[in-house]
Amino acid sequence: MIARRRFLIGSMIAAAAGGSIAKATAETAPLPTLDAAAAATDASYWASIADLYEVDRAVANLENGYWGIMARPVLENYIENTQRVNRQNTVYARGTFGADLENTRNRIAAAAGVQPEEVAITRGATEALQVLIAGYNKLQPGDTVLFADLDYDSMQYAMNALKDRRGVEVKTFDIPEPATREAVLETYRLTLEQTPKAKLLLLTHLSHRTGLVMPVREIAEMARARGVDVIVDAAHSWGQIPFDIADLGADFVGLNLHKWIGAPVGMGFLYIRKQRLADIDVHFGDEDWPADDIRSRIHTGTLNFAAALSVPAAIDLHEQIGAPAKHARLTHLRNYWVAKVRSIETLEVLTPDESGMHAGITSFRIKGKPSKDDNTAIVNRLRDEFKVLTVRRGGVAAGNCIRVSPALYTTEAELDRLVAALTAVSS
Ligand SMILES: Cc1ncc(COP(=O)(O)O)c(C=O)c1O
Repeated sequence: MIARRRFLIGSMIAAAAGGSIAKATAETAPLPTLDAAAAATDASYWASIADLYEVDRAVANLENGYWGIMARPVLENYIENTQRVNRQNTVYARGTFGADLENTRNRIAAAAGVQPEEVAITRGATEALQVLIAGYNKLQPGDTVLFADLDYDSMQYAMNALKDRRGVEVKTFDIPEPATREAVLETYRLTLEQTPKAKLLLLTHLSHRTGLVMPVREIAEMARARGVDVIVDAAHSWGQIPFDIADLGADFVGLNLHKWIGAPVGMGFLYIRKQRLADIDVHFGDEDWPADDIRSRIHTGTLNFAAALSVPAAIDLHEQIGAPAKHARLTHLRNYWVAKVRSIETLEVLTPDESGMHAGITSFRIKGKPSKDDNTAIVNRLRDEFKVLTVRRGGVAAGNCIRVSPALYTTEAELDRLVAALTAVSS
């Protein structure tokens, strides 16, 4: 199956190199997990995938958590779509764009295992989650809403804003460090138990701060048992971890398409379980769509037509490589450098090796160096002296840290450069 897959990817590279639009087909089913795990270390296969990305390697870019560059077939498709839309202008925008946008919505829904009526396209996870948090209308004055230190900054802001908007109490708590599955579950269990007025919980599937992966389903079940709704921030997980939205066990989810799915920047979506649509407000009194249509929950105005049109090409490639294989490869790359730095006594790795608790992203901290300035200095040194790009992340209760996020095109040689650099900066 791997050989066949290589052939298909190979023809995409050839097509892309020839300047035509390589149309990935969903002809091959995603690799089953076992095969995907075996494929994680297949150097020639991943070299062929890396060839799909045109990357400037002057600096080893291990900061792919910000956004994910488009593979060549997607980029070609995006360029062609941009040219066509620009050429056809309003004839297109007022013509078949509506149907094309519906096609994109259908593709997203099918890939995420939900119904199109449960999906609304947004310009990213921020917009999706702001709509869900600000629009959640089941809160009463005196209720409590909850979030943790590892949740995303602008989602925390939106949760804090509920204090004035809905008259609720905002309670925050910290994820334990070192994190284990047990400790994380216990933290959520205790927090829920100690907050009888809790009604809403923000829960990040994969933390942008440390890379920690939360046992979302178990936490969502605990919350539901106490009458607490959960809004899941899956900005970083979809495309990095294989799952269907139903696997999360949550009714409200915000996701990105321009991180790990590799769509053009400016694409994300929100999910609301059909039966829960009324619990999210219509967006700024939208009248374009009826209140029982999820599209009334986000009114973005004019959007990047070409970006929306190119999402199917990104999903094609995502499905062709297969979510399990992407996950296995990214996890392998994470394990590759983590295994080599675990023995450095002064360096703390902030995600456990425990299966299911990490994917491709992992942060570290040099012991005794938790400040913003300490970590900024290390990031700068890694970039300037060792040509390795990482990013400082604040907001973790135990202190600042440095995030390492490899991409599908990352090589083991680049990770060896990181390991040498970490050995030097932690001595
Ligand atoms: C966990 C998390 N949530 C939400 C977002 C917001 O995503 P975007 O800026 O693409 O809208 C990010 C972006 O990095 C993130 O890491």
